[in-house]
Amino acid sequence: MPDAYILGIESSCDETAAAVVRSGEQVISNVVASQIGTHQPYGGVVPELASREHLRAIVPVIRQALAEANQSYESVDAIAVTQGPGLAGALLVGISYAKALAFALDKPLIAVNHLEGHIHAVLLEERQKGNHELQFPVLALVVSGGHTHLYLAARHSATEASGVGGEGGWTYENIGHTRDDAAGEAFDKVAKLLGLGYPGGPIVDRLAAHGDATAVRFPPAQIKHRDRREHRGQKVTEGDQPGFDFSYSGIKTAVLRYVEVHEMHRSIEERRSALAKIAKPQLADYLVNCDKRTLDLVASFQRSMVEDLVGKTLAAARSCDVATLFVTGGVAANNELRKTFELRGAEEGLPVYFPSRPLSTDNAAMIAAAAYPKFLAKNFANLDFSAEASLALR
Ligand code: KG4
Ligand code: ZN
Repeated sequence: MPDAYILGIESSCDETAAAVVRSGEQVISNVVASQIGTHQPYGGVVPELASREHLRAIVPVIRQALAEANQSYESVDAIAVTQGPGLAGALLVGISYAKALAFALDKPLIAVNHLEGHIHAVLLEERQKGNHELQFPVLALVVSGGHTHLYLAARHSATEASGVGGEGGWTYENIGHTRDDAAGEAFDKVAKLLGLGYPGGPIVDRLAAHGDATAVRFPPAQIKHRDRREHRGQKVTEGDQPGFDFSYSGIKTAVLRYVEVHEMHRSIEERRSALAKIAKPQLADYLVNCDKRTLDLVASFQRSMVEDLVGKTLAAARSCDVATLFVTGGVAANNELRKTFELRGAEEGLPVYFPSRPLSTDNAAMIAAAAYPKFLAKNFANLDFSAEASLALR
């Protein structure tokens, strides 16, 4: 099979991204234009502003990705784009541009699920390192600002998928999900509540190292309400809990309650206005503006999140008897999460793989990589497909 150069395009949330990946195994270029500055004053992503910023950035970002890869519009073999899940208006910018390119250049167009992209970020980088020996079955925790999902990932034989050799296709079974907030959303909301700005994950990650993670005890998440869904082919009914679901709205409320009980509002407002005056606050700026109580709260919050994510994921891994664990998505960039997964995974003899930090958060290299098996299988999209804000991964 000759090399295939796939141009990936990603615009599902607040990053406009384009990348060129060779045969699902080598990143040739990877360009990400972040909109953090646009959304920061609002403390979260504003969908209308996200669409407008994608419109502004999409052409220069794609041009840069092609130029850095020494490729042209004509030379790439296919165009891959995120179909969903994500913000509909934001997704449409990438999809419309990808369709226009595919039509004008007469190239195959491949629609990719964003969550499948996050999983393929791990596969891409392992192949890039020369690791072709991953053991199956694989359990993947996709943990980001919009998602906290557990998938059992299965690969089908190459001939089954494409009839022409090369890598086979993939299917995914969702065995756990968040009932309310995603884990990254909890990091973002708690950071906002404490006057630490947006996005919250990276700053909580850095500040947590300066606090006492045992200072505040948060009760474990209680999952009480019923949820109907498939579990390994069987309908899960009331009272029949597989125990792999997550819930993070409770911990956010517990942090709010702690802030109220300890009358932290005034110091939070002072911190918010002090940090707002600094163009690009550095760790030292945050530290100067955080007292010990705040640092302890941040560290305890992160510890609680990490314990819950690691504990539930490893329980699912044991129950499904998987051979390998992937942890991917924006929150997978978290230092304590990585260390804890590595430690506990090693204790249980379970290899754990993460993407590098640039490929943990949203990017288009993962979209181009996830498109490769579809390219081999000639699983191309028609020009009439549209954005799907709640696209499920199967
Ligand atoms: O995957 P991603 O870039 O976008 C989505 O698909 O949602 O993830 C963004 C999320 C945000 O909630 C951000 O706060 C979180 O990932 N995040 C982190 C870290 N870096 C990014 N959370 C915890 N620790 C980090 N180091
Ligand atoms: Zn994502």
